[in-house]
Amino acid sequence: MKALSTEHLLGIKYLKNEDINLIFETADHFKEVINRPIKKVPSLRDITIANLFFENSTRTKLSFELAEKRLSADIINFSASQSSVKKGETLIDTVNNILSMKVDIVVMRHPNVGAGVFLSKHVDARIINAGDGAHEHPTQALLDSYSIKEKLGTVKGKKIVIIGDILHSRVALSNIFALQLQGAQVKVCGPTTLIPKHITSLGVEVETNLRKALEWCDVANVLRVQHERMDIKYFPSIREYTQLFGINKQLLDSLGKKIVIMHPGPINRGVEITSDVADSDQSIILNQVENGVAIRMAVIYLLAQQIKK
Ligand code: CP
Repeated sequence: MKALSTEHLLGIKYLKNEDINLIFETADHFKEVINRPIKKVPSLRDITIANLFFENSTRTKLSFELAEKRLSADIINFSASQSSVKKGETLIDTVNNILSMKVDIVVMRHPNVGAGVFLSKHVDARIINAGDGAHEHPTQALLDSYSIKEKLGTVKGKKIVIIGDILHSRVALSNIFALQLQGAQVKVCGPTTLIPKHITSLGVEVETNLRKALEWCDVANVLRVQHERMDIKYFPSIREYTQLFGINKQLLDSLGKKIVIMHPGPINRGVEITSDVADSDQSIILNQVENGVAIRMAVIYLLAQQIKK
């Protein structure tokens, strides 16, 4: 049986292209399962998973929970705002207390970069990074690439532009790694203040003119401005941001070709994208959400296969 080359999913930068292919093949199977009348398989009846969310989430948390339930795993959920973290408990103490309850896999979202890597070195469980600060969000990038492949047949050779707040985005970095590993060309587009200085060292081109970026690409992955990670003002006003970097139907229709529109959510409608674009037939935003469950089932299933009981 084929296996992943890694014991944890800490970031796309630790994966090989063969790992991505294996995750996609496995997700194809689970996508078929979740579209059956009985959407559940007994594969992980002997596995316990802890979902530790030290930072807010809607999509990722619900998607992981649903993926785990579809695989028949036992799950426990932890949210930092309702926990003893508020009383000063350390991350290692929190996790070790949870692991004493015989947990096999930890899914963790944390505001600090490298939190998953740190945990993987200190606790005896498989770790899945569900987003660490502005660093990586590997399952989001996997579901994004899977959705591109589903829509366009392949990721290889496709031109993808990631638009918006690249500086504060873990989705952008994981997508850059995943897309390049599969042979796509990647550009980023946004205000220069929201583009990391050394991004070109990753083999990514920068385009600050939105129309040119859209004319170049096959797929536009639109990101929101992450105000919660900003301690200074990066652009004069939301109105100006929308005028220069917001995608509206008029702009989309004027391109003379049909590009694919993606967004990882949460969407700020009317800021980075208008409703008529987000809800148009060019948008695959809800397909991304559906594929997220199949991709997370695949990742959990493949990591669980490595656990000796
Ligand atoms: N795409 C994403 O990570 O969304 P959430 O923050 O709601 O999980």
